[in-house]
Amino acid sequence: MRPGPTKLTALHHLLLQPALSQPPIPLPQGTGRYSISLTNQEWTDPTRPDPFNQSHPRRIMTSRFDPVPPSQCHSKQVPYMPPTTAAVEDEILAAYGYPKGLWARFVQEEKWPLALFSPGLNTTRFFSNHLAQEIASHGFTVISMDHPYDTDVVEFPNGDVVFGGRVEWPANGSTASVEHALEVRAKDASFVLDRLGIGRSEEQRAVMFGHSFGGAAAATALLNDGRFRAGINIDGTMFGPVLNYSLGTLSRPQAFMLFGSDGHSSFTDPSWSQFWAALNGSANVDYKKEFSITKSVHGSYWDLNILVDIAGIREELSEMAKLIIGPVPGKRVWEVMGRYAPAFFRFALRLEEEDRVLRGEDGDFPDVVLLRG
Ligand SMILES: *[C@@H]1O[C@H](CO)[C@@H](O)[C@H](O)[C@H]1NC(C)=O
Ligand SMILES: *[C@@H]1O[C@H](CO)[C@@H](O)[C@H](O)[C@H]1NC(C)=O
Ligand SMILES: *[C@@H]1O[C@H](CO)[C@@H](O)[C@H](O)[C@H]1NC(C)=O
Ligand SMILES: *[C@@H]1O[C@H](CO)[C@@H](O)[C@H](O)[C@H]1NC(C)=O
Ligand SMILES: *[C@@H]1O[C@H](CO)[C@@H](O)[C@H](O)[C@H]1NC(C)=O
Repeated sequence: MRPGPTKLTALHHLLLQPALSQPPIPLPQGTGRYSISLTNQEWTDPTRPDPFNQSHPRRIMTSRFDPVPPSQCHSKQVPYMPPTTAAVEDEILAAYGYPKGLWARFVQEEKWPLALFSPGLNTTRFFSNHLAQEIASHGFTVISMDHPYDTDVVEFPNGDVVFGGRVEWPANGSTASVEHALEVRAKDASFVLDRLGIGRSEEQRAVMFGHSFGGAAAATALLNDGRFRAGINIDGTMFGPVLNYSLGTLSRPQAFMLFGSDGHSSFTDPSWSQFWAALNGSANVDYKKEFSITKSVHGSYWDLNILVDIAGIREELSEMAKLIIGPVPGKRVWEVMGRYAPAFFRFALRLEEEDRVLRGEDGDFPDVVLLRG
């Protein structure tokens, strides 16, 4: 389905929806110059049986964030997540001591380079709405994808709900399930490019980023599809062929950025060091960088880390809940990602010169460490 029937709605803000007696809390816009329009879309691939359920064709849900000049923007509130997803995610987070009702309370309000986003294993794309909005505010169309049967819960417009958890984290050394899931995710990503009419011309090349398992999916998508010019893995262990086969071809070089967390880098994670060695050994990888944010943790990079500050509940969280998001304020993580990711993508797409932050030379980011590249 083309981004057709749903009219793009221009939004100024992400807002908290009144839930019971609780007042709405506005979410800030991205730090970039553009406001954002948001569309949720279903995409069905009639040519591909769902690899997790052959009884129906593969269909995925996406959220599309488009930059809009502020002068053309009128604001509207829309839910941060649809209701079933919000209820399921509430239950999951309640187990870690997060207050219930958080998700249900949030609402959101030219030709750009296309950036696809893939979320963590068994987690929803909505957990990165705000990160997607941040990148979009710097002038990218960002499309975040759910991957049914892998994503914990996916809600379709007709009311169908597909639960996830079908992908097994490696136990007893077998990575077969995660490797299969990465191939499925990469196909989902290529399918989105197909549907958007992205061809093989240099001008049309796309980029992809992902958090956790979604970062590994970004690398796999690049390896499988030369239409992707560059990718970012935000703190995700790598699996599969990207460990042994390098990205890029002679005619279509590719670029990659690793964004790790404190204690997780190519110096500590064998999958990252092997991936880095593969990047390093390739003549067709024309740019590569590895960064880390001091004191960051794996969960620093998902929306929860900024939503707790906006909702003003960080101090009330249980110790376990605090451990998940770590000590770096969400606002800071978004400032960093809003600067480094767009700079990297624009440079790789040859839209602008290499930003000095990419050379580790910006005094405004003393907490961002250039580890390699
Ligand atoms: C496969 O999809 C069908 C709907 O097309 C659903 O009824 C069925 O429960 C699914 N099976 C599994 C194992 O998820
Ligand atoms: C997926 O997430 C759900 C909810 O947190 C959990 O119950 C389930 O065990 C997870 N499945 C896997 C395979 O991790
Ligand atoms: C891993 O191996 C142990 C011992 O052989 C077995 O009990 C367990 O079920 C296996 N786990 C998985 C996920 O295959
Ligand atoms: C990569 O190559 C090593 C040997 O060099 C092999 O042990 C490993 O299984 C390979 N991994 C993948 C994912 O192909
Ligand atoms: C990268 O490649 C260079 C040249 O082949 C080599 O000297 C260096 O050791 C490699 N570094 C890593 C981290 O693999």
